[in-house]
Amino acid sequence: MPTSVHLPVTARPALRVSRSASGADVVVAALIGAEGSATAKIVGLTPRAVKEAETSLGTDLASLAIRMGGSPRPGSTAVLPWKSGSLILVGAGETAPADEDLRQAAGWGVRAAAELAGDKGVKVAIDMGIGSAEGVRIAAEGALLGAYHISRITESECVDPIAEVTIVSQARGAKPELRKAEIMADAVFLARDWINTPANLLYPESFATSATEELGDIANLSVDVLDEKALASGGYGGLLAVGKGSNRKPRLVRADYHPEGASTTLALVGKGITFDSGGLNIKTTDGMYTMKCDMGGAAAVLAAIKAIARLELPIHVIGYGCMAENMPSGKAWRPSDVVTIHGGRTVENSNSDAEGRIVMADGLARSTEDNPDMVVDIATLTGACMVALGTSWAGLMTSSTEAADTLLDASEAAGENFWELPITDEVREGLHSDIADTKSSGSRAGGAMGAAAFLQGFVSPQADWAHLDIAGPAFNESKAHDYIPLGGTGFGVRTLVHLAANLAS
Ligand code: BES
Ligand code: MN
Ligand code: ZN
Repeated sequence: MPTSVHLPVTARPALRVSRSASGADVVVAALIGAEGSATAKIVGLTPRAVKEAETSLGTDLASLAIRMGGSPRPGSTAVLPWKSGSLILVGAGETAPADEDLRQAAGWGVRAAAELAGDKGVKVAIDMGIGSAEGVRIAAEGALLGAYHISRITESECVDPIAEVTIVSQARGAKPELRKAEIMADAVFLARDWINTPANLLYPESFATSATEELGDIANLSVDVLDEKALASGGYGGLLAVGKGSNRKPRLVRADYHPEGASTTLALVGKGITFDSGGLNIKTTDGMYTMKCDMGGAAAVLAAIKAIARLELPIHVIGYGCMAENMPSGKAWRPSDVVTIHGGRTVENSNSDAEGRIVMADGLARSTEDNPDMVVDIATLTGACMVALGTSWAGLMTSSTEAADTLLDASEAAGENFWELPITDEVREGLHSDIADTKSSGSRAGGAMGAAAFLQGFVSPQADWAHLDIAGPAFNESKAHDYIPLGGTGFGVRTLVHLAANLAS
């Protein structure tokens, strides 16, 4: 048994549902209407509470909010006095928010409430006219995810700005939905914490140990870790080659959730490069700085499988975390080196900075031995995908329209954006090698699609396969917004959980 690790952890606020907002320090309601208009309306709050507040303030709340800089524009916030605390009116668009708009409005509200927190955490009530149990779940997700902040590694302890979240609703059957939101938020927090942990603390061995501890005690879920010796005897030439330049040795984590009676098998494969320096094809200063996030795919897979198991979804799910650190050194593998991937296919290294697909090849090849009905891989794989789709959309690549539809349905329910890119003959042909079965990369043109074409070579043609490139949305370098924090976003966790739920039903 490996020794245990202590990595930074961000606490999730407590969550409850209530018919009223009483007891909260901060109440969040929605402001809707045509942009900039005087006809803005409040959604949420009881008529009696509004009347009391308006009498004591001597004006109507909606127009006061507009005068204080508020607006129905999504993301705008106005803070008003409210009983013994504050009222935050969050812009939520033209109509009462639902689905992703509601999730985002709740996130914006909690984010604004956190700014009001002093030296102790605030209790926040989300009161947005939520009328269904599903609405409670969605608002709770947005609020909890919006409460996340990077766990600082400092001398003194810091307080969590949000102590408690209450969703105000009269809806029946809301309690079980709360638990679903908690499980989902816990998984996204876990992925974010792993991603934000610097690579001196989170490296293949400690990542694998942390995953074993996090997933260890859940019913029907078991975790196996292959260390460098086991990788060598199993012929995992990709993980070993990428890991060679580093003193931190690679790991392959296999998490198997197998509930009784499950008839469908889903395999998930995640890129777990704990730091991507580029290897001998070393990155630039700016390009390297955020590369602790390069294990975001493995984080998404392992966190998702934890949620899937805690939700007891009736489906067999096997998750792989392909973990290595990509470093330059006298031991590093070189451009033009040829290595053998698990299962026997050979790869010529065109560029040591195209390391993710190499470790993923081992994971995908291993996953075919599970005879899955569907295989989904997820990776911060290419800068090209970020160039194509920006930082809030991920790429989806597959040769199966059914797999594309299934994933797009799941991502829609999750509130995560994916856009399909083709895998063209042009990029397939670009992978020709004169010496090995394939080169690792081809031309810069269509780089995201070329990576997908490479990966496809390691998947069994029988399985329905899709590739998710999350290079853009995995890590937020600019500014926190709605329920997306700075740093690791946990992108992909929620889509994978919804995918498993949809395949199970
Ligand atoms: N981890 C990077 C991709 C990446 C870039 C993720 C920016 C997140 C933000 C990946 O390993 C990489 O370096 N890809 C190369 C591939 C190329 C050498 C074929 C790239 O995109 O430049
Ligand atoms: Mn790279
Ligand atoms: Zn990488």
